[in-house]
Amino acid sequence: MNILVVGAGYVGLVTASCLANKTNRVVCVDTDSKKLAKLAASQIPIYEPGLKEIVDAAVANGSLSFELGIKAGLAKIESDQTNEPTLVFIAVGTPQGEDGSADLRYVLAAAKEIGQHLTLPAIVINKSTVPVGTADSVKGEVAWQLFQRKCFIDFDVASNPEFLKEGAAIDDFFKPDRIVIGTDNEKTKESMLKLYRPFVEDDGRLLTVGVKEAELIKYASNAMLATRISFMNEIANICDRYGIDVEDVRQGVGMDSRIGPAFLKAGCGYGGSCFPKDVQALVRIAQSVGVEPLVLNGVESRNKKQKQYLFEQIVTRMGKDLTGRKIAVWGLAFKPETDDMREASSIDLIRALCHAGAQVVAHDPVAKEVAEQIFADLIRNGRLSIVDNLMQATRDADALALVTEWKEYKNVDFNALKSSLKSAVVFDGRNHLNPKEMKKLGFHYAGVGRV
Ligand SMILES: NC(=O)c1ccc[n+]([C@@H]2O[C@H](COP(=O)([O-])OP(=O)(O)OC[C@H]3O[C@@H](n4cnc5c(N)ncnc54)[C@H](O)[C@@H]3O)[C@@H](O)[C@H]2O)c1
Repeated sequence: MNILVVGAGYVGLVTASCLANKTNRVVCVDTDSKKLAKLAASQIPIYEPGLKEIVDAAVANGSLSFELGIKAGLAKIESDQTNEPTLVFIAVGTPQGEDGSADLRYVLAAAKEIGQHLTLPAIVINKSTVPVGTADSVKGEVAWQLFQRKCFIDFDVASNPEFLKEGAAIDDFFKPDRIVIGTDNEKTKESMLKLYRPFVEDDGRLLTVGVKEAELIKYASNAMLATRISFMNEIANICDRYGIDVEDVRQGVGMDSRIGPAFLKAGCGYGGSCFPKDVQALVRIAQSVGVEPLVLNGVESRNKKQKQYLFEQIVTRMGKDLTGRKIAVWGLAFKPETDDMREASSIDLIRALCHAGAQVVAHDPVAKEVAEQIFADLIRNGRLSIVDNLMQATRDADALALVTEWKEYKNVDFNALKSSLKSAVVFDGRNHLNPKEMKKLGFHYAGVGRV
């Protein structure tokens, strides 16, 4: 099938390269010429395991190419005429607007450009996470542009939310739990099923629903996952008061087949490009139709509070004034296997530590470059340094705070870590290390909900 993917970010690049690896012809466009220059030089602008191999293979066999802007992209993909409609995926960002709702300016700008340049029948597919009713707005925008051009081109708009997890995106795309297709049109449904059948072993993983239902499924899914995390973080705080271990509680709760063990790990708050903004957006969606989002507000409040957890632990042990103290931070990305730092808990912690006078030395296996931009001010005024070696970060530090559960942090030589630190004090914000072993080795160890 002929496919145009609008946006070469996490979702667009993964979608374009994976679809191109299944005998489709794909053109991926972006407005960011620096990103495109990197891609032209076979460099992947983001850290995502396996993505480079997939992109390189598709580019090499001619099934994937990149263009600057929708106009050029449409011209290229439409130059190869088929009997089938062109599939145009919108995979641009939907950041949080000032009032918390999803900012649709990039989606609607993409719809406008599509309407301005489309010349052949097409199905426009929203892959971006968008509020209920956005497909209608996209349809209206494309139709308006076509009307102004006096063009009568057959097109439809469908919803196909993306559920990939950063760090495991390629696997998720090739072996999805489910693919949600939102359409109210039989012909569109057939095209979408044809596109996605090669990605599933049986049709049971393909859920076709109405457009609006698909739009809400994405928000409800992310909010559900965020709810489980915030719920368990609240339980961890109760564990703290009783001096009991939240990990034992988690195991017991997760063994209930009605509950299951996933997404129940306590920690120092969730971040990333999706959960925080999507929970906020769902709050606004609920309010816009007169529903008071009692649960969602609680999820968000708990997460905000949880992001202060490590700092509060450090201050409780070391005092409010951290002047002259050196704190090592392991992990900057919002989760392992990515360099994405959007809404990462490390940002709240490092800013709070520096504000309290501490000197911070941080390490992350892949997010250093991204972090250097985010913390440019702290680096410039000498409060923060980001180093390449994890042990270099801990040298003569008064404490170590672990914020991202990278594998390498589990596999260190803990005797070497103990001699590297000035005081053997570890705050484990992800319950990633073994407290019994740490204590046996003489560390003061504090996890989240496990004293
Ligand atoms: N990142 C994730 O893990 C993830 C997972 C599921 C869903 N989503 C959703 O998918 C959407 C995209 O997320 P992302 O993380 O890939 O965003 P991103 O910011 O990484 O990428 C978006 C890209 O779109 C480009 N763009 C914007 N307007 C354009 C236009 N008119 N023409 C061409 N390119 C344009 C930008 O330059 C950018 O490169 C969002 O709605 C997000 O909520 C993200």
